[in-house]
Amino acid sequence: MSWKPNRESPIPVYKQIVQYLEQRISNGEYPPGTLLPSERLLSKELGVNRSTIVAAYEELRAFGIVESLQGKGTLVSKNIWGTSRKRSPNWEKLIETGSFLPNTTMMRAIRKENFDLDLIDLASGELSPDLSATQYFRKIMSNEDFNYQVGYDHSQGNLVLRETIASHLKKMKNIHATPSSVLITSGAQQALYLIVQCLLKPGDAVAIEDPSYCYSLSLFKSAGIRPYLLPVDDHGINPDDIVTLHKQHRIKMVFLNPNFQNPTGSFLDMERRKRVLEISSSYGIPIIEDDPYSLTTFDKTHMSTLKSMDQNGTVLYVSSLSKTVASGLRIGWIFGPQTVIERLADAKQQIDLGPSIIPEWIANQFLSSADFSTHMSKLRESLTFNRDKMVFSLYDQLEDQVEFLVPEGGIHIWCKVKADVNEQQLLKEAMKRGVAFVPGRVFGTEKGYARFTFGRAREEHIYEAISRFSGALRSLK
Ligand SMILES: Cc1ncc(COP(=O)(O)O)c(C=O)c1O
Repeated sequence: MSWKPNRESPIPVYKQIVQYLEQRISNGEYPPGTLLPSERLLSKELGVNRSTIVAAYEELRAFGIVESLQGKGTLVSKNIWGTSRKRSPNWEKLIETGSFLPNTTMMRAIRKENFDLDLIDLASGELSPDLSATQYFRKIMSNEDFNYQVGYDHSQGNLVLRETIASHLKKMKNIHATPSSVLITSGAQQALYLIVQCLLKPGDAVAIEDPSYCYSLSLFKSAGIRPYLLPVDDHGINPDDIVTLHKQHRIKMVFLNPNFQNPTGSFLDMERRKRVLEISSSYGIPIIEDDPYSLTTFDKTHMSTLKSMDQNGTVLYVSSLSKTVASGLRIGWIFGPQTVIERLADAKQQIDLGPSIIPEWIANQFLSSADFSTHMSKLRESLTFNRDKMVFSLYDQLEDQVEFLVPEGGIHIWCKVKADVNEQQLLKEAMKRGVAFVPGRVFGTEKGYARFTFGRAREEHIYEAISRFSGALRSLK
């Protein structure tokens, strides 16, 4: 909740809360029957005493606007509009029955609580604000040479940016692309969504890594796709597992995040890469290479992508600026066969009528300036510091209780927690102590893992964050 009572106002705080809730109820934001936040939660969110919320709810109850139900909490009154014949739509039912599935309860809890200012955030899978390219954006935006057309643009995204991305791919990743085979998307996430919606149909089988990037899991479920799992070890997946799955289920596509995989941080071994490509072309199974992390490599020998080795055009390449420049810029792209790109662009045009021109312009200015390489060197250096700090903190405070791979890039550490504790309780205890992480179960894996994002927290907070986690773990053993 972003609204807060105004402490300077002559209106008592509890009255302001009454007015605020009353307004949301009459706006239809809280329809009749809606369960209002508990007194404890609301007092925390608004930064007031619980007794202030009790007084506000009491007044709303006296007006007949809300009612209390034993064991349930405070609800917006069902007959709020008196005896009139008005009926409100059954929003709850509509919410439950839509075909696009909601996030898991655990993910929603983490995202909600994570806005708490005291929490050290090791959960959000993105860069901390000070590692993002904000200072360069300020410089770009203060220039007055913005010269793009501001109408609806090309359905594949702005041509100048596509040209810049094509040369970026060649220079940074040894991928040879032409602008007409590139589609600009709202992050890699939209790229994955378009691929799933346009190239697959309900009932199709795909192979995905286990564990795997959590938002792609619900994407498949919502589209009725059957995901089959390829276990990931320290060197990525075992390519021959694709063959086994294909023989059993006729795999239509393989989704891989081969470079500093989310969540494990693993880097797909070179021999395994060759074998993946061999299998892909001998069985005609396309590979979706989801690659937001390759440029974060701490050591340049880990730079290659599957796409740069793809000689038969079986790889559809997805990437974005989220993990290197800024997640809020929402610039991603797909590179692949032109017919596929045109099909996806057509769908994208129906969804959002094209990308937003201002982020495209900023991305183009930044990628084509010398500042990009300065930023990348600084970012790699800072991420290496953060990684080292987290590795040290884990060894120092939890040495015999966790096992993990030290990643050579990316922003996550995937930790096996040896003690047999309930993940949900561990998360709750950790949040109580002021640290957020993502429990392994969210990534569809067996229980007993935690993902810590070292790119998100400030380096000076990492030791304290692991100490809070360690306290939570001790409290449950
Ligand atoms: C492997 C992977 N793919 C895709 C995404 C989506 O990123 P974005 O849409 O911000 O580019 C993420 C984000 O965490 C990710 O880790």
